[in-house]
Amino acid sequence: MPTDGRLRSFVLRKGRVTSNQKRALVELKDKFILNKNIDLEMSWSIFPSALDIGFGAGETTIHLAKSNPQMSVLGAEVYLSGVGSVLSQAEEEDLDNIRILHGDIVPFLEDKVPDDCFDLILMFYPDPWPKRKHHKRRLLQKDFISLLNKKLKRDSIFYFKTDWTHYFQEVRRLFEDNKDWKIIEKQELDDYLIDLPKTSFEQKALNSGEELNELALRKVN
Ligand SMILES: C[S@@+](CC[C@H](N)C(=O)[O-])C[C@H]1O[C@@H](n2cnc3c(N)ncnc32)[C@H](O)[C@@H]1O
Repeated sequence: MPTDGRLRSFVLRKGRVTSNQKRALVELKDKFILNKNIDLEMSWSIFPSALDIGFGAGETTIHLAKSNPQMSVLGAEVYLSGVGSVLSQAEEEDLDNIRILHGDIVPFLEDKVPDDCFDLILMFYPDPWPKRKHHKRRLLQKDFISLLNKKLKRDSIFYFKTDWTHYFQEVRRLFEDNKDWKIIEKQELDDYLIDLPKTSFEQKALNSGEELNELALRKVN
């Protein structure tokens, strides 16, 4: 149980970390990893314009940074091998417009990120916590949506995908009932968002024939 008593949206898995990921974690830590205990504006001289929450193996974080050199991209992940993988890809692609929060995005957003910061937040295939008794661990709930609203600028985009129909329906209902957001068509998104690569979880879901659901929203208030 965490010391602040809050339920976490993740369970820390040991998972295998490859030797290349280990090397990247050691050699590139100072360049890319933010100190989660200090304010974002103290650790990165520019404000990030995009946030990728729970990036897994990092396909989307890398794509955002690579296809938009003018964009500054913050990726958040608790999973060590995912962080190692994204660092190694950032080095390979020679990307300087990327920083990583290795840890829980919730307290960081609450305490260390200024309001009206981002133009875009992605949350793809968040842990679904399928059992009813675990639904309260799901990240996307009313309070977290309010937090996202505070951290996004007006007219910015929140883009969510999941292969869990129940989770999708709950989230869609929360947004439909909320005047601060407008559901938009995928075609209204910029091309680099329409052309995003498939993430590992997306590919797994496709391979097992799951239905994929997505919701694109504009913050209107
Ligand atoms: C099911 S995976 C999806 C990964 C990736 N977005 C994809 O589509 O392949 C969800 C990820 O969110 C991460 N995660 C869950 N809660 C988080 C939190 N509070 N802060 C940061 N990362 C979190 C998990 O570690 C996990 O890697």
